[in-house]
Parts: sequence; C-alpha cells; structure tokens
Amino acid sequence: MTALQAIDVDPRDIRHRDEFVAQLRRLKSRTGLSYRDIERHARRRGHILPLSTVYSALNRGTLPHVDLLAALLLAFDLPEGEVARWLGAHRTLTEEPGTAAPCGSTGAPCLLPPIPLPLIGRDGEVDAAAASLLEPNRAPRCLVIAGPAGVGKTALAVHLGHRLIDDFPDGQLYADLGGFHESAVDPKSVLSLFLRALGAHPSTVPRGMDGRVALYRTLLSRRRVLVVLDNVAESHTVRALLPNGLECRAVVTTRATLADLCGSHLSLAPLGPDDATALLGRAAGIGRVTGEEAAADEIAALCGNLPLALCVAGARLAARPHMRLRDMARALSDEDRRLDELTVGDIAVRRRIALSYRFLTTSGRRALRLMSMCGDAEFTGRATAALFDVGRAEADLLLDQLLELHLIEARTAPGGGTRFHVSPLVAAFARERSLGKDEDGHRGTSATQRN
Ligand SMILES: Nc1ncnc2c1ncn2[C@@H]1O[C@H](COP(=O)(O)OP(=O)(O)OP(=O)(O)O)[C@@H](O)[C@H]1O
Ligand SMILES: [Mg+2]
Repeated sequence: MTALQAIDVDPRDIRHRDEFVAQLRRLKSRTGLSYRDIERHARRRGHILPLSTVYSALNRGTLPHVDLLAALLLAFDLPEGEVARWLGAHRTLTEEPGTAAPCGSTGAPCLLPPIPLPLIGRDGEVDAAAASLLEPNRAPRCLVIAGPAGVGKTALAVHLGHRLIDDFPDGQLYADLGGFHESAVDPKSVLSLFLRALGAHPSTVPRGMDGRVALYRTLLSRRRVLVVLDNVAESHTVRALLPNGLECRAVVTTRATLADLCGSHLSLAPLGPDDATALLGRAAGIGRVTGEEAAADEIAALCGNLPLALCVAGARLAARPHMRLRDMARALSDEDRRLDELTVGDIAVRRRIALSYRFLTTSGRRALRLMSMCGDAEFTGRATAALFDVGRAEADLLLDQLLELHLIEARTAPGGGTRFHVSPLVAAFARERSLGKDEDGHRGTSATQRN
C-alpha cells in the first residue's frame, strides 16, 4: 500500500501544534517505515535524516523545523500535492502561535516543492535571479535558467520561489513539464492543475485547450503570481503557460537554451571547487571529509563539480560508513567504473545524461563520442572540424547542437578564440556508448542502438 492510500487525515484541518506532530507520527506508522527505513529513504534522496533526529522530532509537542519536515515527507514517499499540503499546514501553524487559521483562509495556492536543505554556493545566482524578477516593470517577465543535467536548475528555481513568496502574495504555481525525462507532461493537464489551484471548481475547468488558456489568463490578469515551469525542452510547449498578468512572473528551467523565449537568461555552471567539496561533505555526513580533504577534492573534480553527482557520491559514502574517500576517488578515476559509482537507489547520473543525448542527431552523437575519446582535451573549432572529418561550417553546426544541449562547455582562451571541452561525466557516458554499452551501462548493444 502506498503512503497516499494510507492517509486519512487532511493536515489543513489540524488546529494545534501537538496535534500536528501526533498526526505526523500516525502518518509514519501508516507508511510502515521503520526509523532505519526513513534514514535510508532520505539518504537515497541526498538528505541526512539520522534516526535519532527523526525520533525526537516525532516524539515531542513542538513543530519540527520545516527543512526536517520536508525531508521526512519526501522520505515517506508522499505525492507532491500531499507534501505541499503538510508544508502549508506547517506554515499556518508557525505563523499563528497556538491555533491555525481557518482552512483555506489565505486562498493563495503554493505548489512549490519543499526545499530540503539550503543551497550551497549559489548566493550570487539567487540574488541576480531575484533582482531580475523583482525589477519594477509592469509587464509579465520570464527568467530562463539553463544548464546541464544535474547542475541544480530545479533546486535554484524552487529556492527562488520560496524566497519570493512574500513578493507574490497571490500564489506560486509549479509544474514539472518532464521535457528531458522519460515522459513529457501535456501542458493541457498542467493548465487543469493550475486552474484548480487558482480556485476554479473542477466542473468549471474547460475541456479544450483554448478555453483553459482563456480562463487561466483571466484568473491571472489581476493577480501577483509566480509561475515556475520546470524542465522544459522546447519553448512552444510552455507558451500557453506563461502568465499574462502585468504583476506576474515566470521562471523556466531547461537543459536546452530556449533562446527564442523572451526574458532574462541565466546560465548555470557547475559549482566552484570549494563549494563542490562542501556539498560532498554535507551529503557524506558529519566528519567524513576530515583527514581526507585531498580525496574529497579529487572526488569533486571527478564529478565535474556537478551537484547531482556530488549528492550521489555523498549518499553512497553515507551508506558505507567504513568506506574511505580515497577508495571512492580511486574507483571514480577508473573511467569504466565512474558512472557505476554514481548511482544510488533510482538516481543514476548515467540515465540523466542519456536523456539529453537522446535529443542529439546521429551526427551530433558521433561528434560527442569523438570528442570524448580524446581524454580531457580542449578543442579549437578548427581541431573539431578535423576530428569530425567535416568542413568548418558543418563542425560549427555540430558544436552548436552540443552546446545547445549543454553537453559540452565553451570558454574563451586567454589569447582569444573559443575552446570546447567535454565534462568528465559526459565524456565517460559517451565513451561507454562508443564501447557499445547501453543507457544503463550494460554491454552488448548493437551498432544501431549505440547511435
Ligand atoms: N547549490 C546546491 N546546493 C546543494 N544541493 C544542490 C545544489 N544544487 C543542486 N543540488 C542538489 O543536487 C541535485 C540535482 O539538482 P537538480 O535536480 O536541481 O538539478 P537539475 O539541473 O534540475 O537537473 P535536471 O536537468 O536533471 O532536471 C538535487 O538533489 C539538488 O537538491
Ligand atoms: Mg531539474
């Protein structure tokens, strides 16, 4: 039985803090998870939730901290809507000591997922993004956050949404469009979700797309709402979801570039080396890095300083209290094992990269595989033309395709000119494909599948 089926309490009906904790305890027992299971589930998601912390949070009359609550609800495997309800109830109880406001009295929807833990190393980006969204300008604006798989686009957008809650008092809408995941979400069903969140009764939600868009625009025209559209592959899929209200703002995240989407564009790069090591240390658990700082730096570099890879590496270390960091660094140095080491539970760096790789043309895939066979070399445009065995113009088109999907990086060389480079994780993935491994790292793929 899933946790969803087991719940028979609406957290928004809870009036007192001790009752909130009691119901949370009840929820835990309905999920059938032991404290140990919760610790394990949380770790799979990159959260540290020690047994003792959860036990004491569930066995006292005071409200748990919101970060702890969010991590706990995610470890329970609750659907997002349910998590949002619990967090909303928590907020109401926090704001009004002793008693909760009547259910639904604020009326403002908040569909943002919870923020599990504070962001590391993104203060500059959060400030710049917030400033761009709050710039006084009575016109609907859009901020596009672009970057490679696992760089932290969703994390940044969600943090931003929470930080700006008071600036958008009529609500925060959020939807994962699944553009670079296994199955894309139909914007029509997202509109239905948004309309209901904005107060439309299900029976009044129009059946057709045009009717839904018209009602959506009508409802937003005089409100101050932030709309977060996560994981968008192509601009046309979200045009209907962009708010028209002069006081509304949208945040779009994408692994592509979406240069044709009007607005400000923020390109998110991997973390700096120190922040990357700090994230690894937090995910691995207190004290794990002490005495092994050099190995931690090495792991971070082998992970390309990519937050997703660092969380996975950290979760694997946390699950193996006796493993030394230098042993993990050695395993990651082996290109044949690197992506196997970066898999925990159902999170696999390899599969995330595969979902971007699928968007390449056959020649784009070949170009990436060729660049990845050359270690961590940097290429000039001219060198790639020779490597791909094509003319300069065609090589430039292939490079554009790889850059557009953030599968390679470009930098300006000190003497001028551009240099192109494949990150260590994408290179490991592309080399596996060259060696006939499939998207799960298994050998024996035919030449056609390999492409
Ligand atoms: N700055 C950060 N500090 C701490 N944790 C981070 C940071 N950035 C990302 N993370 C964590 O790293 C993991 C991957 O981040 P996230 O899912 O946001 O990446 P993404 O760019 O949205 O990936 P995708 O393209 O696959 O959607 C998440 O667990 C997230 O919480
Ligand atoms: Mg994302």
